[in-house]
Amino acid sequence: MSSSSNPDGSQYGRLAYWDQRYTDDKEPFEWYTNYNSIRSNCHSHFRPNGKILNVGCGNSLVSEDMHFDGFNDIVNVDLSGVVIQQMIDKTQALNGLTWQVMDARYMEFDDESFDAILDKGMIDTLLSGDNSIESAQKFSSHVARILKPGGIYMCLSSGIPNERLPMLNNQDYSWDVECVPIAKPVISEVEVKFNLEEDTSCYWLYICKTGGDDEEG
Ligand SMILES: C[S@@+](CC[C@H](N)C(=O)[O-])C[C@H]1O[C@@H](n2cnc3c(N)ncnc32)[C@H](O)[C@@H]1O
Repeated sequence: MSSSSNPDGSQYGRLAYWDQRYTDDKEPFEWYTNYNSIRSNCHSHFRPNGKILNVGCGNSLVSEDMHFDGFNDIVNVDLSGVVIQQMIDKTQALNGLTWQVMDARYMEFDDESFDAILDKGMIDTLLSGDNSIESAQKFSSHVARILKPGGIYMCLSSGIPNERLPMLNNQDYSWDVECVPIAKPVISEVEVKFNLEEDTSCYWLYICKTGGDDEEG
């Protein structure tokens, strides 16, 4: 994960950190990159009328952009009640977007209830917190459980394939994983300097497709 505003990665696993961050700064903040960078992948893999989960949604504009781009049913969850209330207030006129406080490690949804799950920085957040591997495994198990047969888990991550693929290629999840590079946006000189300190030159979109029917609709 990368943010010039927080030097201590372990804080990303803490609710108090996120609540304070969203209390202090109510402006939308886009981790990694914006919807345009993953738009074609969303259209290739998500159905407009499918039920989509955006997990660890934060106050990113992605779900609103997807809504205006034709995706009709997007459930958004985040651990922070502060940001969820802000997003409820902000998007109350937008039918098809719902918001819930939920811990990604203990998701309360029924088995096979989503056609697609979008994770933009969620597993990276868990991997930078306490009990990182256990947290990421709990989350991934829930993702696999709540996806419908033929469903897609799409994860935008800063983690390189050598690190993420061994974790995602778990036979318990019965999905096939493909990964595609996503260019990093260069926003400012500060951002360029920051990016150069990392040993990756791009982000990675991990596209996990479960076996089974995937009726188009
Ligand atoms: C790196 S930010 C990504 C936000 C947004 N997806 C984006 O792309 O801009 C991680 C988000 O995950 C949330 N979060 C942290 N731990 C969580 C957990 N255990 N369950 C659900 N959300 C969590 C944080 O509140 C934060 O909004």
